[in-house]
Amino acid sequence: MQECSRKERLEGKRIGVVPTMGYLHDGHLSLIDRVRELADFVVVTIFVNPTQFGPFEDLDKYPRDFERDCEQCMAHGVNVIFAPSAGDMYHPGHSTWVTEEALTTDLCGSRRPNHFRGVTTVVTKLFNAVLPDVAVFGQKDAQQALVIRRMVRDLNFPIEIVVAPLVREADGLAMSSRNRYLSPDERRRALAISRILLGLTPGKVNPDLIWDGITKAGGRVDYVEVRDADTLGEVTRDTREILVAVAAYFGPTRLIDNVVLPHVH
Ligand code: PAF
Repeated sequence: MQECSRKERLEGKRIGVVPTMGYLHDGHLSLIDRVRELADFVVVTIFVNPTQFGPFEDLDKYPRDFERDCEQCMAHGVNVIFAPSAGDMYHPGHSTWVTEEALTTDLCGSRRPNHFRGVTTVVTKLFNAVLPDVAVFGQKDAQQALVIRRMVRDLNFPIEIVVAPLVREADGLAMSSRNRYLSPDERRRALAISRILLGLTPGKVNPDLIWDGITKAGGRVDYVEVRDADTLGEVTRDTREILVAVAAYFGPTRLIDNVVLPHVH
């Protein structure tokens, strides 16, 4: 992968990457379309990264469809798919980690111990393999996007990070590879999350009402947080925009969603 990227760069090309775990949906494709606007040579990485899954999470059943992913990448003008095996990525006795220590302590970070350590480590390794000039991540994983931006700043990666908007199904459900786990009934009830988030009025966001609405729809709320969208810290007088972030279980499936709203003082 490095040889390929070096060759393209020598020819003057700007290299863009979209890191994914595969099972691509329209959300991923929107990231690919975005990076194609920003780069001349587009790489998509497909790697279901074991180190970001907890021991009781869905690593083994995480959906995979490599053939279909390849077709979609081809249809969207991807130049290279980098799809290493777990053995390619992690040597036996792997013992070096990249950790971000401020933004990962709560929200998904406190509920999924070591998740972000796995993400920052694998994204570093993928960046080292692909050597991109620009990388696009989705706003769906709002905390992940902030953590990656911070890591890139703090560790001086010479890579531009672009965050592209969250993409929803026609009925509002935030697109996710995990949506396929939902039964038709769970999926219908899970629409409460987006219905509530998309119905919020700036200046009138009440986390308790969001929590109650999701619970009434049959969801088990993991968290509802209202934060400064730039820093993930508490909302202050300086906050420009607020992030309203939700994680909730419908059946065994944990879904996340968020909206960003102007901060009304
Ligand atoms: O967002 C994802 O799919 C993953 O967390 C990422 C960034 C590809 C790292 O494994």
